[in-house]
Amino acid sequence: MDAKTDTKTNTEKKSGTITVGNKNWDFPIYDGTVGPQVMDISKLYGESGLFTYDPGFTSTASCESKITYIDGDEGILLYRGYPIDQLAEHGDFLETCYLLLYGELPTPSQKHDFDYRVTRHTMVHEQMSRFFQGFRRDAHPMAVMTGSIGALSAFYHDSTDISDPLQRMIASLRMIAKVPTLAAMAYKYSIGQPFIYPKNDLDYSTNFLRMCYAVPTEDYKPNPVLARAMDRIFILHADHEQNASTSTVRLAGSSGANPFACIAAGCACLWGPAHGGANEAALNMLREIGHVDRIPEFIKRAKDKNDSYRLMGFGHRVYKNYDPRAKIMQKTCHEVLAELGIKDDPLLDVAMELEKIALHDEYFVEKKLYPNIDFYSGITLKAMGFPTTMFTVLFAVARTVGWIAQWKEMIEDPKQKIGRPRQLYTGATTRDYVPISRRK
Ligand code: SDX
Repeated sequence: MDAKTDTKTNTEKKSGTITVGNKNWDFPIYDGTVGPQVMDISKLYGESGLFTYDPGFTSTASCESKITYIDGDEGILLYRGYPIDQLAEHGDFLETCYLLLYGELPTPSQKHDFDYRVTRHTMVHEQMSRFFQGFRRDAHPMAVMTGSIGALSAFYHDSTDISDPLQRMIASLRMIAKVPTLAAMAYKYSIGQPFIYPKNDLDYSTNFLRMCYAVPTEDYKPNPVLARAMDRIFILHADHEQNASTSTVRLAGSSGANPFACIAAGCACLWGPAHGGANEAALNMLREIGHVDRIPEFIKRAKDKNDSYRLMGFGHRVYKNYDPRAKIMQKTCHEVLAELGIKDDPLLDVAMELEKIALHDEYFVEKKLYPNIDFYSGITLKAMGFPTTMFTVLFAVARTVGWIAQWKEMIEDPKQKIGRPRQLYTGATTRDYVPISRRK
């Protein structure tokens, strides 16, 4: 395949050629505002009878998007063009939600209006608390979240018509507002404490921490340092281009499924340890290592080709340099530990030493395996009092806005059609049925 650039200006038509044997096919090449060019091969099968083959989509762009840009080699992450470190430093999570949904930072009045509207959707239908009674107390909170987010479509029929922009907007606000309430309910349910209702005079993250940690028997005293850390963790996890769970949401949405069902599908995908479940797995790994003296043993296992063991919290499909979120996460981790007076967290000692060793080990350097966002988030969340099983739930709370923004962009794309990949078939060719009486 070679890309021919038309002699006209760079903005004119460009095309690339795919050659198989003595046949050539030309396909358009498009430029993004930044990042790799793409070749539009949507007509490849029709013209050549060939499929492309790209398991895991390592070289495939599934869509055009204006929401999030990642440069894996440079360690860059932009939400609508704004660097993640600036948003995490200067803004709050609801500002990031507005930016991801509408494409621009809100004016003061837009921010006030958005905060007001989200805040007034934070309560869930009272019947939801009875819905929770159906779960076992020891259910994994991600099972509860996947079930209860999907159940929202059973309670909010008036915002499931995806062809109605107003219903799409209401459903989006409802999910950004109600998912933290459901997450807090999942936590309270798992520890046998009563659900705590949201309070409209609190900001998003303080409200969430209060719903998790307040009890009816005493006044809740918010800790602004922890609330700020929670808000920053939500910003860092809000969106990340076409990752596995976002791609799941887009594919589910392409069939016209209602938004609550699509977000529930994304939540189910996020749960996997290779994806959003890595923060829980990373902390469990640090616990299993237990002491810096045992790190070499685990590094050896991670490098052993015959052992499927991987260092959780390391590596990334896109980042082949430092995950920019990991740097901010590490800083937040130290702030939270300092605020809570946690001086010598043995898990942090293991994490810091593991990071140092891994970053100098030729295996990790050669394979470009750096700590990702999940490496430090577990230590931070544990220090804040969350059980390990809640870590991916918190990731889902944050990523809900990213899933919705990407779903909204897909639904509003006039070129949108149902996603339907093909395959390389290597199974049996046609053969006749053999009655069971004749099978040996
Ligand atoms: C998230 O996509 C996103 O954007 C996701 C995310 C988001 O915000 O949505 O960023 C969130 O999911 C972060 C990633 C969290 N996952 C983990 O921390 C789990 C541990 N990491 C690995 O499972 C792995 O690194 C992945 C899944 C993250 C990435 O896998 P890739 O890109 O498919 O890489 P690969 O599996 O092809 O690995 C390349 C090589 C392999 O060795 P070889 O077969 O080439 O010899 O690197 C090795 C792997 O064995 N490798 C590791 C490793 N990760 C990859 N070896 C040891 N430990 C690891 N963690």
